Parts: sequence; structure tokens; C-alpha cells
Amino acid sequence: MVKSKILFVFGTRPEAIKMAPLIIEMKKQSSIFVTKVCVTAQHRQMLDQVLDFFDISPDYDLDLMKKNQSLSFLTSEIINNLDLVLLEFLPDYIFVHGDTTTSFVSSLCAYYHNIKICHIEAGLRTFNKFSPFPEEINRTLTAKLADYHFAPTLKAKKNLLKEGIDKEKIKVTGNTVIDALNIALSKIYINRIYKNYNINKYLNNSENLILVTGHRRENFGDGIKNLCLALLEISELSNVSIIYPVHLNPNVYIPVKKLLKGKKNIHLIEPLNYPEFVYLMSKSKIIITDSGGIQEEAPSLGIPVLVTRNTTERPEGIEAGTVILVGTEKQKIVSFTTKLLKNKKFYEDMSLQKNPYGDGDAVKKILKHFINLVKS
Ligand code: UD1
Ligand code: UDP
Repeated sequence: MVKSKILFVFGTRPEAIKMAPLIIEMKKQSSIFVTKVCVTAQHRQMLDQVLDFFDISPDYDLDLMKKNQSLSFLTSEIINNLDLVLLEFLPDYIFVHGDTTTSFVSSLCAYYHNIKICHIEAGLRTFNKFSPFPEEINRTLTAKLADYHFAPTLKAKKNLLKEGIDKEKIKVTGNTVIDALNIALSKIYINRIYKNYNINKYLNNSENLILVTGHRRENFGDGIKNLCLALLEISELSNVSIIYPVHLNPNVYIPVKKLLKGKKNIHLIEPLNYPEFVYLMSKSKIIITDSGGIQEEAPSLGIPVLVTRNTTERPEGIEAGTVILVGTEKQKIVSFTTKLLKNKKFYEDMSLQKNPYGDGDAVKKILKHFINLVKS
């Protein structure tokens, strides 16, 4: 039997986290597939942390990250460099994930070569083309190009159906982020590895730990400034400690360091490697973030999430009661944080809800469906 050639293409930290469990399982199917990995390295250090943890060595590394790269420059670099990889490996299928510039541009390049495109985490929408920017357009155009759509939820499937995508091409699977989380949790607690984590020096069981992250382009400027002003006010509440692993994008870390540096109970740290970050999430009382992946992971750990965005492509969390959209207005961030800290019932109503993004069997479902597709 001729083996199908599969190429995974991704470039940023969250894509790597969410693709890793699928790559690991796909590689086990070596009697039917030749599986290779290409990283654009749109991210560098933050991507490498994840590749190390999951023990993935890319077959192709385009090494494209440049400091503060523009979207147009990145787009042209991905097209030019990925083209050569596709010509060399000649895959039958590429797998892309979500909504990054790597996902959209790789799909476009694969389309030019008549290669079939499988889109993981398909169908998320805000229907606002500037929020999140440029992710809403990246994922809408990726859907247009893709041949097979792996949607995490029924809502995501419905969004794709509304855009005229054939229902036979869509499979609802849950989100692979939970598969990754389960892998991380089991590794963290085997041999009590967490005992060696540097982050322990910031953890004190008697304090209310608030974990913060943020990186969305639409929050650059005022959004980040307001978040920082809110954190300064929150840090004055009694018994609070804030840990903020700051994204390496200069549009984020420059203002954050300027506004928050030197405050005793606000700890600004480098991005953490994935298992250490998962451990830190599990020790947190509240998470304040604009991250997509964290909104999906935190409910599995029972941690309420305040989302510093005005729109969302993840309404499932809001409906399940695991996250609240607080936007980037200072007072709203402060008042919801205070309410969570002071009102036990309000806190428990959020922390005890079921995670709407699945149980960690997304990879199994994707793989089973894909093998059937290839065989048919
Ligand atoms: C990108 C994705 C976004 C995703 C996010 C996850 C696009 C347009 N954006 O945003 O969808 O949610 O990743 O984090 O695809 N940098 C480093 N080291 C790193 C990573 C980034 O120094 O390991 C700095 C560089 O200066 C780089 C800048 O951050 O130029 C921006 O990186 P980029 O990938 O363009 O955007 P993100 O904001 O990270
Ligand atoms: N994460 C990490 N280290 C950190 C912060 C986040 O490993 O210091 C992980 C987190 O667990 C989640 C993912 O990175 O799985 C989210 O990435 P990000 O917020 O950059 O992107 P988004 O999910 O918004 O696209």
C-alpha cells in the first residue's frame, strides 16, 4: 500500500501545544502515513519551549521570526519558504491549526500546490473582522481553503455550515488543548517534578494568587494600559499576589514593564514552559487573560477566567459559566476580580462548571475520522 504523506505546519506556541498530541499519535501510524513536521517559527523561544516538552524535532524549520515582524513581511516570508518545502516533500495532506498567520498562509500555499488541507480548531468566529485582528480573517480564509474541518464544538460546526461548508466535510471533535493538558498534568505529577519548578518561589499557599497573561493586537495601547492600571488597584487588595508571565512581543512587554515594574506583590516573569505554566494555573485563584487557549484549559482545573476582550469566538465558556468577558475597562476588571475574591458563592458557581471544550479525546476522534477519510 502506498503511504499517504502528511505535513504538519505551525509556527506559534499555542499551535504547537494543540498540535503536539495529534502529531505524537499520527507518528504512531507509520504503517499508513509518512508524517513530517514543518515549523515556520513565527515564534522562536516560545515555540521551542513547547517542542522540547513534547519531544518533537521538526523535519523543516523555516526559522522566520524577526523582532517585531510586520504581518505583511511574515506573510511573504511564509509563502516563499514553505513553497520550497512543499515542492521537496510533496505531501498529500497538510494539517494546520486555528487562526494564526502561519495557518492561513500555509493553507494558501498548499492550495496553490493542490494539496489537501485539514484544519484543526475550525469554525471559531466573532463575525467582526477587526476583533480579534487578524485572527478572524485568518480563520475565515483558512476555512474557505480547507478540505476537511475539525471543529471543537457544535457551535463551531454551525458557523461553518452558515458559510456554506459541506456538512460531510466537518467533524466535531472537542479541542486538542485538553489532550495536551492531560499529558502535561500527568508528567507534572509523575515523580513530583513540580517540586523542582522555579515558580515555587513565588507561591505562598495563604495568598490569593492571580495569574495574568495578554497579547492580543487589538489590546495594544489603551487595552494593555488599562489592564495594568487595574492590576495596580487589585494589588492593593489584602492577601493578593499577582504573577504575570509577559509575552515576548515588544508591544506587550515594553508598556507592561514600564507600568508594573517594582511593585512588591506583582511578579513580572518570562513566558513559562508549558508544564510549569499548567502547574501555575492549577495553583491560581483567578486568571485574567485575553488568551484563547487559557480560556479553554482553565475550566478543567476549576479556575475562573476573566477575559480582557470585548468580543469572543469562544461563547461556549461564557454559556457554561466558566469565563466572563470583562473587556479592558479598568473598573470592570477590578470589580469582577474583587467579587470573585469576596463572594464564595459567585466564585464556586464559576469554578465548579464542566469544561465545554471536551474531555481530552479529541485526538482519538480526529485520527479515527482521518484514517477513514484516507481509506475511503
Ligand atoms: C501570534 C499570533 C496570534 C496568537 C499568538 C499566540 C498572528 C498574526 N498572531 O501573535 O494569533 O494568538 O501568536 O501567542 O499569527 N516574539 C519573540 N519570541 C517569541 C515569540 C514572539 O521575541 O518566541 C516577539 C517578536 O518580536 C515577534 C513578536 O513577538 O516579532 C510578535 O510575534 P507574532 O507571532 O507576529 O505575533 P504574536 O503577538 O505573538
Ligand atoms: N502558556 C505557556 N506559558 C506561558 C503562558 C501560556 O505555555 O507563560 C500556554 C497556555 O497554557 C496555553 C497557550 O500557551 O496553552 C496559550 O498561548 P497564547 O496565550 O500565547 O495564545 P492564544 O491561545 O491566545 O492563541
